[in-house]
Amino acid sequence: MMRKTYSNTLESVSNYVDSLYSNEASSIEWIRSWAKEEGLPDIHVSAMDGLHLEMMARACGSKKAVEIGTLAGYSGICIARALPKNGKLFTFESEPHHAKIARKIFEKAGLLKKIKIYIGAALMNLKKIESEGPFDFVFIDADKTNYPNYLKWAEKHLRIGGVLAADNTFAFGLIAEKNDIKLGSHTKNVRALRTFNYSLAHHSRFRSTILPTGEGLTFAVRIK
Ligand SMILES: C[S@@+](CC[C@H](N)C(=O)[O-])C[C@H]1O[C@@H](n2cnc3c(N)ncnc32)[C@H](O)[C@@H]1O
Repeated sequence: MMRKTYSNTLESVSNYVDSLYSNEASSIEWIRSWAKEEGLPDIHVSAMDGLHLEMMARACGSKKAVEIGTLAGYSGICIARALPKNGKLFTFESEPHHAKIARKIFEKAGLLKKIKIYIGAALMNLKKIESEGPFDFVFIDADKTNYPNYLKWAEKHLRIGGVLAADNTFAFGLIAEKNDIKLGSHTKNVRALRTFNYSLAHHSRFRSTILPTGEGLTFAVRIK
């Protein structure tokens, strides 16, 4: 029996999708160049992942969303677009310079009213919004070693039916690497991501999958 593959690796298919959605991508492409001029690293989600996030937030009727890892606000804008006028995105960023640029970008996009930025280590600052919960959508895209801790936070503060998304869950291609030596400086990150993936795959309160994007995009729904 033919076993269908997990993902599609044909370059022609990838180019087809990029071209099909090129208008979407180009509408917020200015964020990448602005961030580059300000010296921020080019580690924003891809255009298609931005769309995936918007669709996930829309599909769960998100009004209150949380993002861990703001950078210049690219993914934040994708999520904020999905929220109603009175919706709110709480986004967390440890680097003051990143947060400053993100604020300007949110303002230029006309979305600042919907967004609150918290500066500092997310794990500390998340406590400050707990009284605003439960939340409809949580997106994790910051320090990989804390992914298991962010999952614990989401388990408590996401509503039932709410969505959890997390980027980079293929650990930059190292998630299944058996030779520990090859993990090098990524060792702690890979171990934390394996713990995160395992917890979600066996979680009693979440149903989850990993979308086969380039980076691995976890998509989980809180069911209990
Ligand atoms: C991959 S980037 C986020 C990209 C962003 N989500 C996007 O796609 O537009 C990760 C960001 O998380 C921030 N970060 C790293 N550790 C953090 C922490 N403990 N708390 C909050 N932010 C953190 C980094 O400074 C960086 O800006």
